Amino acid sequence: MVGPYLSQKRRNGAAGSSRLPEARLAEAVGLAGAIHLDIAGALIVNLPEIRPATYLGKGKVEEIAELVADEEASLVIMDCALSPVQQRNLEKEFGAKIIDRTGLILEIFGRRARTREGSLQVELAHLAYQKSRLVRSWTHLERQRGGFGFLGGPGETQIETDRRMIEERMARIEQDLDKVKRTRSLNRKSRSDVPYPVVALVGYTNAGKSTLFNRLTEADVMADDMLFATLDPTLRLLKLPHRGKAVLSDTVGFISDLPTMLVSSFRATLEEVISADVILHVRDISHEDTDAQSADVVSILHDLGVDAEDHHRLIEVWNKVDLLDAERREGLLDNAAHRPIELRPIVISALTGDGTQGLLEAVEARLATGRHTYVVTLEPADGKGLNWLYEHAETIGREDDEDGTIRLTVRIQAERAEQLHSRFTHVVPSLAVEPIETTQAAGWSPIPERSPA
Ligand code: GTP
Repeated sequence: MVGPYLSQKRRNGAAGSSRLPEARLAEAVGLAGAIHLDIAGALIVNLPEIRPATYLGKGKVEEIAELVADEEASLVIMDCALSPVQQRNLEKEFGAKIIDRTGLILEIFGRRARTREGSLQVELAHLAYQKSRLVRSWTHLERQRGGFGFLGGPGETQIETDRRMIEERMARIEQDLDKVKRTRSLNRKSRSDVPYPVVALVGYTNAGKSTLFNRLTEADVMADDMLFATLDPTLRLLKLPHRGKAVLSDTVGFISDLPTMLVSSFRATLEEVISADVILHVRDISHEDTDAQSADVVSILHDLGVDAEDHHRLIEVWNKVDLLDAERREGLLDNAAHRPIELRPIVISALTGDGTQGLLEAVEARLATGRHTYVVTLEPADGKGLNWLYEHAETIGREDDEDGTIRLTVRIQAERAEQLHSRFTHVVPSLAVEPIETTQAAGWSPIPERSPA
């Protein structure tokens, strides 16, 4: 693993530049580990400038070539963006296969794709990447490298990297994607009839989204130390403290320098985020680079058209507080408590469950704005009315009288309240659900530690 990073004064605020080289390299090693690559060695190269032919200077090229030979490495990952010419020249010099950061990310996305749409999108992005490289370099080496999966290997689909064939394949995939998307928008439509609001988890890769997702829904999805454990959105029902419900959506982990092409191809997958009622931005607050990671996430959200200033929708979740010592934890809670309520982050540990109740309350409080609660009384025979309510409103309580009269407590979007009033005669605003205050940061009370089983 080679981290060729431009030296400080040459960077001029380029993407990822706010990170320390050591942290960037460690992250790249983590990414490679996520697809089980065995890293023989990792080194940082401080670049005064980028060489057009080989990216690195002559001395470094020779030094790394020796390392490659000593370690008998079959692959060199360059944590940067290489031109096809640079890639080819370095491959010759090193006598090993080379992938750059985009190649690595595509490889990870490819292996993590959990839905058909996800795999199609990754394949499309991969082909677009290869095609862009064919424009200027069409050689036998490219033809040999080819294929979906830079790392090749037996049993993997080998696609001729002939440009015409790539284009044909891309056209096919686009057709397939269209089909998948049509089905999905049908599903989405039927879901939009479901009265539950959507809560989306976003965050830097490894921030703890899947862990939190599991903790909140008590579901069993993959959560290990692997980066990108979650490529495709996963949806689960979330039960809120005051009997409300929401759909919780777990999304792909964001990452710095996400290739633009990937952002656009995952746009569709991230629609859940774009249209969510509440977005939880999960941060690993114990990470030394937490501020830089947060800035990256905010900028990707911005690319997706989500305004990070929209505090009605966005809640910052400071995760992994269990990793902080008492003093830093106190400082953090104090910092959080002094922010205006609408900007107040929720401090939690997804691992131990500390603070998650407060998080649920904050979510419910956000969702409750713009929704009203009513008690609707139904005649025993009004089965249709009952169905309508279950379909269009969020039911948070039900009482059945002996004579068959039903009293439903429902929460409904303000825009739908009119429909409710015109359809039912006995509708009264409910006082049953108190306005919910977000008190977590001030009234923090750690619950007993649970073993991280
Ligand atoms: P991606 O899928 O890569 O985006 O990661 P993610 O954000 O879904 O992270 P995940 O939930 O997979 O957690 C990453 C690692 O952090 C795992 O090893 C978790 O056990 C660990 N982790 C998550 N939350 C906490 C926490 O509150 N405390 C501690 N100590 N570890 C945590």
